[in-house]
Amino acid sequence: MIVENTTKEIISILKKSKLSTDMKSLEVSEWIVLEDKDNEIIGAAGIGGMFHTSSININKKFRGKGLGSKIQKRLVEEARNRGYSFVTVFVDPRNTSSTKMHDGLGYRTIFRIHYSDSVIQDVKIIIFNSKGKIIRGILSMFNTKIGILFLGCFLKIFRNLFREIFAYDEDVIPIPNVKNIFQKFEKV
Ligand SMILES: CC(C)(COP(=O)(O)OP(=O)(O)OC[C@H]1O[C@@H](n2cnc3c(N)ncnc32)[C@H](O)[C@@H]1OP(=O)(O)O)[C@@H](O)C(=O)NCCC(=O)NCCS
Repeated sequence: MIVENTTKEIISILKKSKLSTDMKSLEVSEWIVLEDKDNEIIGAAGIGGMFHTSSININKKFRGKGLGSKIQKRLVEEARNRGYSFVTVFVDPRNTSSTKMHDGLGYRTIFRIHYSDSVIQDVKIIIFNSKGKIIRGILSMFNTKIGILFLGCFLKIFRNLFREIFAYDEDVIPIPNVKNIFQKFEKV
């Protein structure tokens, strides 16, 4: 397993392995954990943005063998060693393996957002120190109906900054549906 800054060479490895085809956010991460086997890249997890947001993708052939947990564990250890106070992740609650993997490693859900009709995201955090606790406390404000309304409006206005704020760079960033976000609010 290697940990590297996400240089042009790393981006070309990600493209070649197709791991970033459906997880483009890996390419805008600041650094990345890569696992290979017999010269084949089988999985990668990256981190970036103001909220130290992580993303992970395991080659389909190798899923369900504990590799996602292994790579994500390494990413969390590395973040702690680099002095980060916390790491966040966005997980679709219908994505059972991702939910189990992140929760199993100590991530906790702070709020859920029904971003649009089809996009639902649990925002999870793992904290390492008291600054992390403060961030968790601030983000917990979105676990209220008024908080999620505020967040919905914010996301609508600043959608173009997702790359910088959340290291989120998928081809289509869906437009947040503020009415949906408010009406479908679920406390977690
Ligand atoms: C999510 C993902 C990273 C998990 O990696 P993985 O190597 O397949 O998962 P692991 O084998 O380490 O298993 C992690 C947990 O999920 C469970 N799991 C794995 N596959 C599962 C499946 N198909 N259905 C239900 N649970 C599953 C495992 O039992 C394990 O749970 P446990 O820790 O309670 O035992 C991987 O499936 C993936 O790349 N998915 C596509 C991209 C994605 O969804 N990324 C996450 C977005 S944030």
